[in-house]
Amino acid sequence: MKKEPTQTISRRSALKRMGLLVAGAAALGVPATLASCQNKRVPSRLLLYFTATGNCLYVARQLADENTRLLSIPQLVKQNHYNLEADEIGIVYPIYGHMPPTMVRRFIQRARLTAQYKFAVLTYGNRKCNAVGLWDDISRQAGCPFDYITTMIMVDNWLPNFDMAEQMKIDKYIPESLSRIRADIGARRRWHEPFTDKERQQHEGFLARTGIDPEQCFLLRSEKYFDIDPGTCIGCAACVEVCPRGNYELTARGVTTEGDCEFCFACIHNCPQKAIGFKHLPDARC
Ligand SMILES: Cc1cc2nc3c(=O)[nH]c(=O)nc-3n(C[C@H](O)[C@H](O)[C@H](O)COP(=O)(O)O)c2cc1C
Ligand code: SF4
Ligand code: SF4
Repeated sequence: MKKEPTQTISRRSALKRMGLLVAGAAALGVPATLASCQNKRVPSRLLLYFTATGNCLYVARQLADENTRLLSIPQLVKQNHYNLEADEIGIVYPIYGHMPPTMVRRFIQRARLTAQYKFAVLTYGNRKCNAVGLWDDISRQAGCPFDYITTMIMVDNWLPNFDMAEQMKIDKYIPESLSRIRADIGARRRWHEPFTDKERQQHEGFLARTGIDPEQCFLLRSEKYFDIDPGTCIGCAACVEVCPRGNYELTARGVTTEGDCEFCFACIHNCPQKAIGFKHLPDARC
């Protein structure tokens, strides 16, 4: 199969191409039509996504056809929409420590998803371990098993270890993965991508090493880990728009951040001034 040429582009222009700049996890919301879709015709496909730096939104858009509605999980949570019905329901999320982001885990634990076919696409940057098995366990325990679960490697946005500009130079076979997944879900394939015992052990070793509680995943406090440089900030409110937790506020004293934080880095990636930085990193995770 012919590969797309690998191009070197800046993180900012990549986000722009994805339509993500100042429109990250939170900003692309529940369309007004969701209310009507619950009353009128059941839509053929709902695609629910969580994204911080655009990978999952890009994937969701690439998997969408004219009968698909894209819905942001942070917006669904904010608007208390947990009952969804469609012929097919898909979910796209980034793995954090091989697990779903806390908000995605909590969403599936509360959601009632009614569909003939449910599929999940988990994006990652470097090491997926048994991410598929973890989602299978979580969704099954929530009473919401998925027919198809797969992973897809993309740009790694874990800032402490990876330079996104460098990551974007690496060919991660994204068009090939998308074609494979499109064909699978088009045929309503019932399949879970296999993983090895070694990968499961690697994840268990990771939890033991870091002391991360899987129920909490990377849930931290934004005021503890992020600093905003008042001299560089221009008060554009991009951080306010993109934070899935609503942790940023424009105040008379400038921008402030406080609250439970997914550690997704949407705020850092989307700040046009690079005014947001780490105060420090959690020791066990870097
Ligand atoms: C807190 C955090 C933890 C992550 N953990 C992993 C991981 O365990 N393995 C991996 O390969 N990538 C990991 N990543 C990278 C993301 O899963 C990957 O870049 C994803 O495609 C980002 O999707 P998004 O752009 O839609 O936010 C992590 C990223 C973050 C922010
Ligand atoms: S911190 Fe960055 S994104 Fe937030 S208001 Fe300031 S310049 Fe804009
Ligand atoms: S404050 Fe936390 S949850 Fe909000 S965008 Fe930044 S990293 Fe994500």
